[in-house]
Amino acid sequence: MDRIIVRGEARLEGTVRVAGSKNATLSLMAAALLGRGETVLENVPKVRDVGHMVDLLRALGASVEWDAEDDRCLRIDPESVATPEAPYDLVRKMRASFMVLGPLVARFGCGRVSEPGGCAIGVRPIDQHLKGLAALGAKIRLDAGVIEAFGARLCGTQIHFDITTVNGTQNVMMAATLAQGETILDNAAREPEVVELAEMLCRMGARISGAGSDRIVIRGVSDLRGVRHEISGDRIEAGTLLAAGMITRGAVRVEGIDPTSMDSMVEKMRETGAAIEVETDAISVVSQGASRPIRVVTAPYPGFPTDMQAQLTAVLCVGESSSVVTETIFENRFMHIPELVRMGADISLDGRSAHVRGRPFLTAAPVMATDLRASASLILAALAARGETAISRVYHIDRGYERIEEKLASLGAEIRRET
Ligand code: EPU
Repeated sequence: MDRIIVRGEARLEGTVRVAGSKNATLSLMAAALLGRGETVLENVPKVRDVGHMVDLLRALGASVEWDAEDDRCLRIDPESVATPEAPYDLVRKMRASFMVLGPLVARFGCGRVSEPGGCAIGVRPIDQHLKGLAALGAKIRLDAGVIEAFGARLCGTQIHFDITTVNGTQNVMMAATLAQGETILDNAAREPEVVELAEMLCRMGARISGAGSDRIVIRGVSDLRGVRHEISGDRIEAGTLLAAGMITRGAVRVEGIDPTSMDSMVEKMRETGAAIEVETDAISVVSQGASRPIRVVTAPYPGFPTDMQAQLTAVLCVGESSSVVTETIFENRFMHIPELVRMGADISLDGRSAHVRGRPFLTAAPVMATDLRASASLILAALAARGETAISRVYHIDRGYERIEEKLASLGAEIRRET
């Protein structure tokens, strides 16, 4: 198993380009199932979760090929889908697989997807996905751990999500594009990835309005066509690289992103005392010394993203006085904290809040990654720590970051991967 070795205390400086958004890509790949003919996705990030989705779409029978001339371009043709069934072996590797259920039932009249179960960061039920699909008229059955959804033609209706769910909104929105009549989704997620999906679906022929607000209206159409779509930059990767600049007291510029999707992150980074400059498609951070105490509460978009909580917590470990970080989205997303403590961080947990007392420096220690964003926070801590840190189980980081060690090395980090 690979390890990442970091010799800390190098100041990071320079410009780096972010990859396409992992989470946008996963929903757009599922959406490709809805179109007649080929959908071509550009700027696809080369991360493991995308590889899992490629395997899943192929298992369904779709043709999925990387373009011979552009290794970030993925061609998906769903015409050959033969078995609308997503096997447990693939679903258990990646919960986002569940997003194929809506497109499958809407386009092919039935879909079978394994119940994904919980994961490291929480129980993560799928009740809201099922509530939405059932309201559209799909018959839902759980059989031996597999969720089956049937429905010759779904019917538009009004659905109020009990909680805000990103993939739930996306799953039901995709299904509703081919339903008869109008569907209204209330308490819909407002994340940029939902907006991007709606935009691509509209270019495929769907009629969707309101994406980006908490009410999305979808007027069903009889069929959709394949399209070409360029995936936007990954806002969480961008935030992580900026955090690397902050924790190393450096000056880092990330390009290839829409800064308006990062307002809440930029606001918190500024509160720590970092100087942030926003351009049309880039953001730069210049650290002004030890970070100031702040209060962070994760929330659905446009709130501070849970996917940046672990990374910002690492930044706050090296700083002044005490900060409070409250996680409201997932019940178990503090697994990086015991590992940060092993590196000398002073953090105590009180229910859903972490009280972080900044220290002048962290100390290298062998640590273990437990999930994607936790791994990112350990790499950040290692960049600031005295000595050499070895981070094991880095397959977690490869799920969502593309060659992170190469990007950080290009900014001056002393980092390498050992196989
Ligand atoms: N939830 C339910 N019932 C549902 C769906 C969700 O109770 O039917 C709960 C979840 O357990 C959680 C909350 O609702 O407590 C929000 O979960 P959400 O459904 O919004 O999460 P998701 O759609 O499964 C996506 C991202 C996550 C990101 C969350 C929140 C993808 C592939 N994943 O997950 O990304 O943390 O939204 O923003 O888009 C990551 O990239 O590291 C990651 C975990």
